Formats: sequence, C-alpha cells, structure tokens
Amino acid sequence: MAQKKPAKKPASKATKKSPAKPKIVPKSKSMAAPLADLSHVEVEGSAKLTYKGKEIDLKVLHGTEGHSTLDIRPLLPQFGLLTYDPGFGSTANCRSAITFIDGDEGILRHRGYDIADLAERGDFMEVCYLLLHGELPTPQEKAEFEQTVCYHTMLHEQVYPMMEGYRRDAHPMAVMVGIVGGLSAFYHDSLDISDPEQRMLSSYRLIAKMPTIAAMSHKYSIGQPYVYPQNHLKYAENFLHMTFSVPSEPYIVNPVLAKAMDRIMILHADHEQNASTSTVRLAGSSGANTYACIAAGIATLWGPLHGGANEAVLQMLAEIGSVKNIPNIIRRAKDKNDNYRLMGFGHRVYKNYDPRAQVMKKTCEEVLRELGINDPMLDVAMELEHIALSDPYFIEKKLYPNVDFYSGIILRAMGFPTKMFTMLFAVARTAGWIAQWKEMIEDSEQRIGRPRQIYVGENKRKYVPISQRGSAAKLRAV
Ligand code: CMC
Repeated sequence: MAQKKPAKKPASKATKKSPAKPKIVPKSKSMAAPLADLSHVEVEGSAKLTYKGKEIDLKVLHGTEGHSTLDIRPLLPQFGLLTYDPGFGSTANCRSAITFIDGDEGILRHRGYDIADLAERGDFMEVCYLLLHGELPTPQEKAEFEQTVCYHTMLHEQVYPMMEGYRRDAHPMAVMVGIVGGLSAFYHDSLDISDPEQRMLSSYRLIAKMPTIAAMSHKYSIGQPYVYPQNHLKYAENFLHMTFSVPSEPYIVNPVLAKAMDRIMILHADHEQNASTSTVRLAGSSGANTYACIAAGIATLWGPLHGGANEAVLQMLAEIGSVKNIPNIIRRAKDKNDNYRLMGFGHRVYKNYDPRAQVMKKTCEEVLRELGINDPMLDVAMELEHIALSDPYFIEKKLYPNVDFYSGIILRAMGFPTKMFTMLFAVARTAGWIAQWKEMIEDSEQRIGRPRQIYVGENKRKYVPISQRGSAAKLRAV
C-alpha cells in the first residue's frame, strides 16, 4: 500500500570528503541504512459509520500481525468529526515494522525475533543492528557495526565542563536530558535529517555516547575522575568499566555482570509506541534534529509510570522492608481512595506476564548468586509477586510484574546507585528510539504530529480592563 519514499537528499559531500578521518559511518554496501519497508498494510474490509443521517465507509487496515485498525482519516474532512482517545489507548499513530507486542499472550518480538531468544542467544550490539537495519548482522556486518559504534564513544572535551555546570547531587536524568540535547551544539555535521548519511551518523553517535554520558554523570556525582572509554571492550563491558573503574586501580570486568548488563540492555532496547518513543516520533515529526528528539524521549522516560518505575520499585521495596508488611501494601494498592500503586506492576499493553520480566527475574537470580549476595529485597519482591498474583484484584485487572520489577534489584547488586537506574534504561532504549525515529522520517505517510482536542473553555467574551477586574468569581459574572 505504502510507497517507499526516496531519500530527500543525497549523502552530504561534507561527510564524504574528510580524507584524514577514519570512517565515521559505515560505507560498505552491506552496512548501508535501508529505507524502512512499511508496505505490508492491507485493506481487509470496511466499517460503516452513520452520523446525522450521513453514512461513511471507513477502511479497516491490517498489518502482518496484531489488531485490525480503523482508518479514521476521512472523519474530519467528510464528517467534521474528531475522535477522543486520552492516553491513545485505541490509537495507532504510525505503521511500524520494528517491534510487535501481543499483550494478551505476553509476546514481544523485534523484527520477528522473540525477546527471550534475543536475550538468551544474542547480544546488545546485534539487537541494535537488528532494530536499525531490519536483519541480524552477518559476522562481518557485526564487526563493522561494533567498530563504528566504538569509534564514536568519546565525547567532545567541552562536554565535560558542561557536565560540571550541574550540581553534583543533580538527578542523573536531569543531566542526561541536558547533555544529550546539548550534543546538537557540538556535532553540526549530523543535524541535517534529510541527509541519510547524517541521520546514520547522529544515530551511531548517540548509541555510542549514551553509556559514556551515563558513566560520566555518575563519576561527577561521586567526585571521582571521569574514565574514558576503552574501545577494545564490548559495549556493556565498556559501560561497566567507565562506571566502576578508577585510574588508580586495575579493573577487570566480571563476565557474569557484563553478560547481565548486556541482557538488561537487550530487554530495554525497544518497546513499540510507548510514551517516550511516541514523544521521540512526535518531536521528530517537526523536523527537529536527532539529539533534540532523543532528549525529548529521555525527559518522557523519566516519569515513574514509565522508565522511572525501576527507581520507584526499589524505593517501594525499601519502604516495605519486610515480608510481614506486604499485606498492608497490597491493601493500599487495592484501595480506590488511596492513589498508591504497586510499582513494577501493570502495563498498558501486557495483560499477561511481561516477557521481559521473566528473563529479568532469571538474570536477577544469576547475578545475586555470582556476587554471593543474599538480598532481603529479593525475598520481599518474590513474596509481593506471589501474593499479588494470587489476589483477585490483580487477577481481575490482569496486573503482572513488568520489566522494572526485578531490574532494580540486579542493578543495586551490581553497585549502581538507585538514581542511575532510569538512566540505564535510557542508554538501552536509545537504540529503539533511533530505529523508530529513522523509520518515521522514511515513512511517506509521516506528517507533523498534531492532535486535536475537545475544547471545554469559555465561549467568546469581552476583554476587561485591569482596573475593572475583581476576583475570578466576579470576572465570570461580567
Ligand atoms: N497497582 C495497583 N493498581 C493498578 C496498578 C498498580 N501498579 N496499575 C494499574 N492499576 C489499576 C488501576 O488503578 C486501574 O484500576 P480501576 O480500573 O479500578 O480504575 C486499572 O488497574 C487500570 O489501570 P490504568 O491506570 O487505567 O492502566 P494504564 O494502562 O493507564 O497504566 C501503567 C499502565 C503501567 C501506567 C500502570 O499499570 C502503573 O501505574 N503501573 C505502575 C508503574 C509501572 O510499573 N510502570 C512501568 C511500566 S513498564 C516499563 C515501561 O515500559 O515504561
């Protein structure tokens, strides 16, 4: 149905020249960024809508899997009608070939590959490649991809003083929003989003630099010297090295922890059209540059109902403290007059066990075993899960543990401060944000995002000079 949109501009000459530099984006044919293939949308039928004696046929669309979708585009021009869907619970905002979720069945697949398979058998770099390019890489493609990402791990030296403008006790997400948005002030050669090569360059830069920014902000907050990336290390290893090593002592990355970190990143890499990804798409729809769009995604991820939940879970478990306090917490979570929620429970799309949470729980046990940690929080978490999953309230509302439920316990065991948890989510999710952003730019149906509203404010009224204005109540009476 959809036509592939030709790239708006050939690759920029500026980045093609630069003879002295090693390659900054891959040039081989196998590594070229393919345009998004969004052609698998079919019209499977139609639905009739009658309103004020007028009838309209609306197409019902279907992709390769998932819900059938009513194409409401003719509603406003032909009927003068808008649709109302706060929180977009029934709205498909785009076509996408990246991630498929079946919330009832607890299925999550990237480009057709099951998340458990990717987490068990793949690695994060492979998943990044898959999200961006649509296929798993061959050994050569993977080596080239990793080499190119490595090439971009360092930050412009002036980013460091920028970091130092923050208070040391700043929340790492505040720092990350600022620094990532600020990258657009440093990398002018990758701001033209109509140039496919510049799009790839900014994409590689972001994937490469996010761990460096995250580690830097941690080092800054605890007053330790920044540790530069070591490009012989794998992505997750490098991140652990930059976060935990100090110049005065040797640091050998524990392979079990590196594997766990890599798996956590895979589990967070993409999740279809969630709040932060939709924000990235919305920001990108206006033509904003990649760095600005990803900063917008980071801001959205920060909230406790989204990525901030991993931090909130740990706070909740600490507050619960002991298994004996769980019944009271469950009572509060069920009380309609109390807005308390069990953090790490429930999901807009999953009405079954979040498949990511299952892998996360297993990883949690592996990490605690490796480190010889007997964390009482794990006992509280497991008992909380057990009690909640046998309680009619949670069963009826289909509230299951989500990806954030166990991740905090792992990260804490690995030595990450709680404040850093959401930032780690952002590091991993950058791959998905970028893949989704790139797909949107290349989608011929893409338009600037511009939702409408049901206006419930005042009707037209006369301007009141300031000298004649009283209280709000009087004003209404005028
Ligand atoms: N604890 C207790 N009750 C809950 C919870 C919870 N965690 N989540 C939902 N409910 C209840 C809610 O009160 C509502 O009850 P009622 O129908 O009686 O009003 C019902 O379940 C449906 O909830 P909702 O708020 O309409 O569902 P939603 O789809 O808008 O919200 C959610 C999804 C994830 C924001 C929500 O489940 C929640 O707040 N969970 C806790 C925060 C959390 O763990 N977030 C991480 C999500 S996964 C990581 C990510 O991808 O960001």
